[in-house]
Amino acid sequence: MKSERLRIGTLKLRNPVLTASGTCGYGLELARYFDIAVLGAICTKGLSLEPRMGNPPPRTCETPAGMLNSIGLANVGVEAFVRDKLPELRAAGATVMANVLGTSPDEFARIAARLDAVEGVHALELNLSCPNVKEGGLKIGTDPGGVREAVAAARGATKRPIVVKLSPETADVCSLARAAADAGADAVSVMNTIRGMSIDIRTRRPRLGNILGGLSGPAIRPIAVRLVFEVSRAVSIPVIGIGGIMRWEDAVEMMLAGATAVQVGTASFVNPRAALDVLQGLEAWRRAQKCGYDDVIGAVRIE
Ligand code: SIN
Repeated sequence: MKSERLRIGTLKLRNPVLTASGTCGYGLELARYFDIAVLGAICTKGLSLEPRMGNPPPRTCETPAGMLNSIGLANVGVEAFVRDKLPELRAAGATVMANVLGTSPDEFARIAARLDAVEGVHALELNLSCPNVKEGGLKIGTDPGGVREAVAAARGATKRPIVVKLSPETADVCSLARAAADAGADAVSVMNTIRGMSIDIRTRRPRLGNILGGLSGPAIRPIAVRLVFEVSRAVSIPVIGIGGIMRWEDAVEMMLAGATAVQVGTASFVNPRAALDVLQGLEAWRRAQKCGYDDVIGAVRIE
Protein backbone atom coordinates (compact mmCIF):
# COMPACT_ATOMS: atom_id res chain seq x y z
CA MET A 1 0.00 0.00 0.00
CA LYS A 2 1.36 3.41 -1.00
CA SER A 3 2.10 6.03 1.61
CA GLU A 4 1.92 9.71 0.77
CA ARG A 5 3.21 10.74 4.19
CA LEU A 6 6.58 8.95 4.23
CA ARG A 7 8.35 12.10 3.15
CA ILE A 8 10.83 14.57 4.58
CA GLY A 9 10.59 17.60 2.34
CA THR A 10 11.55 16.41 -1.13
CA LEU A 11 12.92 13.08 0.15
CA LYS A 12 10.51 10.19 -0.28
CA LEU A 13 11.41 7.51 2.27
CA ARG A 14 11.26 3.91 1.10
CA ASN A 15 10.09 2.96 4.59
CA PRO A 16 9.90 4.58 8.03
CA VAL A 17 12.88 2.91 9.76
CA LEU A 18 16.13 4.87 10.04
CA THR A 19 19.21 4.49 12.21
CA ALA A 20 19.86 7.03 14.96
CA SER A 21 22.93 9.21 14.79
CA GLY A 22 25.94 8.11 16.80
CA THR A 23 24.85 4.51 17.19
CA CYS A 24 26.41 3.01 14.07
CA GLY A 25 29.35 5.25 13.17
CA TYR A 26 28.88 6.32 9.56
CA GLY A 27 26.56 3.41 8.80
CA LEU A 28 29.18 1.25 7.12
CA GLU A 29 29.71 -0.66 10.34
CA LEU A 30 26.22 -2.12 9.88
CA ALA A 31 26.88 -3.14 6.27
CA ARG A 32 28.72 -6.18 7.63
CA TYR A 33 25.44 -7.44 9.06
CA PHE A 34 22.82 -6.54 6.43
CA ASP A 35 22.10 -4.56 3.29
CA ILE A 36 21.91 -1.00 4.60
CA ALA A 37 20.18 0.17 1.41
CA VAL A 38 16.93 -1.40 2.63
CA LEU A 39 16.51 1.08 5.50
CA GLY A 40 14.61 4.35 5.21
CA ALA A 41 17.93 6.11 5.86
CA ILE A 42 21.25 5.81 7.62
CA CYS A 43 21.76 8.74 9.94
CA THR A 44 25.48 9.31 10.40
CA LYS A 45 27.49 10.30 13.44
CA GLY A 46 27.48 14.08 13.76
CA LEU A 47 29.87 15.89 11.44
CA SER A 48 31.76 19.00 12.49
CA LEU A 49 33.89 21.34 10.37
CA GLU A 50 37.08 19.96 11.91
CA PRO A 51 37.71 16.46 13.33
CA ARG A 52 36.92 16.13 17.04
CA MET A 53 38.53 13.81 19.59
CA GLY A 54 35.55 13.84 21.94
CA ASN A 55 35.37 13.46 25.72
CA PRO A 56 37.72 11.52 28.03
CA PRO A 57 36.93 7.80 28.57
CA PRO A 58 35.04 5.92 29.83
CA ARG A 59 32.45 7.21 27.40
CA THR A 60 29.63 4.72 27.86
CA CYS A 61 28.16 2.67 30.65
CA GLU A 62 25.15 0.40 30.99
CA THR A 63 22.24 1.41 33.18
CA PRO A 64 18.99 -0.39 34.02
CA ALA A 65 17.02 -0.55 30.74
CA GLY A 66 19.44 1.69 28.91
CA MET A 67 22.87 3.26 28.68
CA LEU A 68 24.66 6.51 29.31
CA ASN A 69 27.02 8.04 26.75
CA SER A 70 29.32 11.03 26.86
CA ILE A 71 31.07 10.67 23.52
CA GLY A 72 31.48 14.40 23.10
CA LEU A 73 30.80 14.37 19.37
CA ALA A 74 34.01 12.59 18.37
CA ASN A 75 34.04 12.45 14.57
CA VAL A 76 36.28 12.53 11.53
CA GLY A 77 35.10 15.95 10.34
CA VAL A 78 33.06 16.79 7.27
CA GLU A 79 35.97 16.67 4.78
CA ALA A 80 37.09 13.19 5.78
CA PHE A 81 33.47 12.04 5.72
CA VAL A 82 33.03 13.29 2.16
CA ARG A 83 36.36 11.81 1.06
CA ASP A 84 36.47 8.47 2.91
CA LYS A 85 32.98 7.44 4.02
CA LEU A 86 30.49 8.86 1.55
CA PRO A 87 31.80 6.95 -1.51
CA GLU A 88 31.26 3.66 0.33
CA LEU A 89 27.80 4.69 1.47
CA ARG A 90 26.95 5.59 -2.12
CA ALA A 91 28.32 2.29 -3.38
CA ALA A 92 26.15 0.51 -0.81
CA GLY A 93 23.09 2.34 -2.15
CA ALA A 94 22.25 3.84 1.24
CA THR A 95 19.92 6.76 1.74
CA VAL A 96 22.11 9.09 3.79
CA MET A 97 21.00 11.56 6.41
CA ALA A 98 24.09 13.44 7.55
CA ASN A 99 23.94 14.63 11.14
CA VAL A 100 25.49 18.10 11.39
CA LEU A 101 27.18 19.76 14.37
CA GLY A 102 27.86 23.42 14.75
CA THR A 103 28.73 25.81 17.51
CA SER A 104 27.27 28.80 15.67
CA PRO A 105 24.80 29.50 12.83
CA ASP A 106 27.79 30.16 10.57
CA GLU A 107 29.23 26.70 11.25
CA PHE A 108 25.89 25.03 10.52
CA ALA A 109 25.75 26.99 7.25
CA ARG A 110 29.30 26.04 6.24
CA ILE A 111 28.81 22.33 6.86
CA ALA A 112 25.41 22.39 5.15
CA ALA A 113 26.96 24.11 2.12
CA ARG A 114 29.76 21.52 1.97
CA LEU A 115 27.30 18.63 2.05
CA ASP A 116 25.04 20.37 -0.45
CA ALA A 117 27.92 20.34 -2.93
CA VAL A 118 28.28 16.54 -3.01
CA GLU A 119 26.18 13.68 -4.40
CA GLY A 120 24.86 11.05 -2.04
CA VAL A 121 23.70 13.09 0.95
CA HIS A 122 19.91 12.96 0.84
CA ALA A 123 19.05 14.97 3.95
CA LEU A 124 20.68 16.76 6.86
CA GLU A 125 19.84 16.37 10.53
CA LEU A 126 20.96 19.37 12.58
CA ASN A 127 22.08 18.31 16.02
CA LEU A 128 20.72 21.01 18.31
CA SER A 129 20.54 18.75 21.32
CA CYS A 130 23.82 17.04 22.26
CA PRO A 131 24.02 17.12 26.06
CA ASN A 132 27.75 16.31 26.21
CA VAL A 133 29.44 19.47 24.92
CA LYS A 134 29.92 23.01 26.25
CA GLU A 135 29.49 24.75 22.89
CA GLY A 136 26.64 24.14 20.45
CA GLY A 137 24.22 21.31 21.27
CA LEU A 138 21.89 22.12 24.14
CA LYS A 139 23.30 25.62 24.46
CA ILE A 140 21.77 26.58 21.11
CA GLY A 141 18.99 24.04 21.01
CA THR A 142 17.07 24.92 24.16
CA ASP A 143 16.41 28.49 23.04
CA PRO A 144 13.84 29.04 20.26
CA GLY A 145 15.88 32.02 19.02
CA GLY A 146 19.01 29.86 18.83
CA VAL A 147 17.12 27.14 16.97
CA ARG A 148 15.68 29.66 14.54
CA GLU A 149 19.09 31.18 13.76
CA ALA A 150 20.86 27.85 13.27
CA VAL A 151 18.11 26.43 11.06
CA ALA A 152 17.80 29.62 9.01
CA ALA A 153 21.56 29.64 8.42
CA ALA A 154 21.57 26.02 7.25
CA ARG A 155 18.43 26.59 5.19
CA GLY A 156 20.19 29.39 3.34
CA ALA A 157 23.07 27.06 2.48
CA THR A 158 21.31 23.94 1.19
CA LYS A 159 18.28 22.79 -0.75
CA ARG A 160 18.46 19.33 0.83
CA PRO A 161 15.75 18.43 3.35
CA ILE A 162 16.59 19.58 6.86
CA VAL A 163 15.61 17.71 10.01
CA VAL A 164 16.19 19.32 13.40
CA LYS A 165 17.00 16.98 16.30
CA LEU A 166 15.50 18.35 19.50
CA SER A 167 16.28 17.84 23.16
CA PRO A 168 13.84 16.72 25.82
CA GLU A 169 15.63 19.00 28.29
CA THR A 170 13.28 21.93 28.03
CA ALA A 171 9.96 22.89 29.54
CA ASP A 172 8.45 23.49 26.10
CA VAL A 173 9.76 21.35 23.27
CA CYS A 174 6.83 22.45 21.09
CA SER A 175 8.13 26.02 20.94
CA LEU A 176 11.51 24.68 19.76
CA ALA A 177 9.77 22.60 17.09
CA ARG A 178 7.75 25.63 15.95
CA ALA A 179 10.93 27.71 15.75
CA ALA A 180 12.54 25.01 13.60
CA ALA A 181 9.51 24.81 11.30
CA ASP A 182 9.25 28.60 10.99
CA ALA A 183 12.94 28.80 10.00
CA GLY A 184 12.48 26.29 7.19
CA ALA A 185 13.04 22.83 8.67
CA ASP A 186 11.33 20.00 6.80
CA ALA A 187 11.00 17.76 9.88
CA VAL A 188 12.00 17.50 13.52
CA SER A 189 13.43 14.44 15.23
CA VAL A 190 12.31 13.92 18.80
CA MET A 191 14.23 13.22 20.95
CA ASN A 192 17.92 13.19 21.87
CA THR A 193 19.12 11.72 25.17
CA ILE A 194 18.42 13.04 28.68
CA ARG A 195 21.33 13.89 30.96
CA GLY A 196 22.00 11.36 33.67
CA MET A 197 24.73 10.17 36.02
CA SER A 198 25.94 6.85 37.36
CA ILE A 199 28.39 6.29 40.23
CA ASP A 200 30.48 3.20 40.93
CA ILE A 201 29.95 2.69 44.67
CA ARG A 202 33.22 0.73 45.05
CA THR A 203 35.44 3.49 43.69
CA ARG A 204 32.99 6.29 44.56
CA ARG A 205 33.74 7.72 41.13
CA PRO A 206 31.38 8.63 38.30
CA ARG A 207 31.28 5.84 35.75
CA LEU A 208 31.79 8.31 32.89
CA GLY A 209 34.94 10.34 32.32
CA ASN A 210 32.78 13.39 31.64
CA ILE A 211 30.80 12.75 34.88
CA LEU A 212 27.42 13.27 33.16
CA GLY A 213 26.12 11.62 30.02
CA GLY A 214 23.01 11.19 27.90
CA LEU A 215 20.57 8.43 28.85
CA SER A 216 19.08 6.37 26.02
CA GLY A 217 17.29 3.04 25.62
CA PRO A 218 13.91 1.68 26.69
CA ALA A 219 14.09 3.58 29.98
CA ILE A 220 13.33 6.83 28.12
CA ARG A 221 10.76 5.51 25.62
CA PRO A 222 7.61 6.74 27.42
CA ILE A 223 9.10 10.24 27.54
CA ALA A 224 9.85 10.08 23.82
CA VAL A 225 6.35 8.82 23.01
CA ARG A 226 4.87 11.70 25.02
CA LEU A 227 7.02 14.31 23.25
CA VAL A 228 6.29 12.87 19.79
CA PHE A 229 2.58 13.01 20.64
CA GLU A 230 2.80 16.65 21.75
CA VAL A 231 5.11 17.90 19.00
CA SER A 232 3.20 16.19 16.18
CA ARG A 233 0.13 18.14 17.27
CA ALA A 234 2.04 21.41 17.48
CA VAL A 235 3.66 21.50 14.03
CA SER A 236 2.58 20.49 10.55
CA ILE A 237 5.98 19.14 9.47
CA PRO A 238 6.78 15.42 10.03
CA VAL A 239 8.15 14.19 13.35
CA ILE A 240 10.74 11.43 13.49
CA GLY A 241 10.44 9.46 16.74
CA ILE A 242 13.58 8.44 18.62
CA GLY A 243 13.98 6.93 22.07
CA GLY A 244 14.29 3.34 23.14
CA ILE A 245 12.88 1.60 20.08
CA MET A 246 14.02 -1.99 20.55
CA ARG A 247 11.31 -3.95 18.72
CA TRP A 248 8.82 -3.40 15.91
CA GLU A 249 6.03 -2.96 18.46
CA ASP A 250 7.87 0.09 19.82
CA ALA A 251 7.97 1.57 16.31
CA VAL A 252 4.21 1.07 15.96
CA GLU A 253 3.68 2.81 19.30
CA MET A 254 5.83 5.75 18.21
CA MET A 255 3.96 6.04 14.90
CA LEU A 256 0.56 5.87 16.61
CA ALA A 257 1.76 8.76 18.81
CA GLY A 258 2.41 10.81 15.67
CA ALA A 259 5.80 9.84 14.25
CA THR A 260 6.09 9.66 10.46
CA ALA A 261 9.30 7.64 10.83
CA VAL A 262 11.48 6.28 13.62
CA GLN A 263 15.18 6.00 14.36
CA VAL A 264 16.62 2.89 15.98
CA GLY A 265 19.68 3.63 18.13
CA THR A 266 20.62 1.95 21.39
CA ALA A 267 19.12 -1.36 20.23
CA SER A 268 21.92 -1.63 17.65
CA PHE A 269 24.48 -1.94 20.46
CA VAL A 270 22.71 -5.11 21.60
CA ASN A 271 21.90 -6.40 18.12
CA PRO A 272 23.53 -4.82 15.05
CA ARG A 273 20.57 -6.06 12.96
CA ALA A 274 18.06 -4.31 15.21
CA ALA A 275 16.99 -1.68 12.65
CA LEU A 276 16.42 -4.39 10.04
CA ASP A 277 14.50 -6.54 12.54
CA VAL A 278 12.30 -3.56 13.45
CA LEU A 279 11.67 -2.86 9.76
CA GLN A 280 10.79 -6.47 8.93
CA GLY A 281 8.50 -6.79 11.95
CA LEU A 282 6.80 -3.50 11.15
CA GLU A 283 6.24 -4.46 7.51
CA ALA A 284 4.83 -7.88 8.50
CA TRP A 285 2.48 -6.24 11.01
CA ARG A 286 1.31 -3.64 8.49
CA ARG A 287 0.60 -6.33 5.90
CA ALA A 288 -1.30 -8.42 8.44
CA GLN A 289 -3.32 -5.33 9.41
CA LYS A 290 -3.95 -4.66 5.70
CA CYS A 291 -3.15 -1.00 6.24
CA GLY A 292 -0.70 1.59 4.96
CA TYR A 293 1.63 3.65 7.12
CA ASP A 294 -0.61 6.65 6.54
CA ASP A 295 -3.29 4.81 8.53
CA VAL A 296 -0.94 4.40 11.49
CA ILE A 297 0.75 7.81 11.81
CA GLY A 298 -0.93 9.72 14.65
CA ALA A 299 -3.77 7.18 14.84
CA VAL A 300 -3.75 6.81 18.62
CA ARG A 301 -7.36 6.65 19.85
CA ILE A 302 -8.12 9.34 22.38
CA GLU A 303 -11.78 9.26 23.38
C1 SIN B 1 27.83 12.56 21.83
O1 SIN B 1 28.61 12.49 20.87
O2 SIN B 1 28.20 12.97 22.93
C2 SIN B 1 26.40 12.17 21.68
C3 SIN B 1 25.74 12.89 20.59
C4 SIN B 1 24.41 13.46 20.95
O3 SIN B 1 23.84 13.11 21.99
O4 SIN B 1 23.90 14.27 20.19
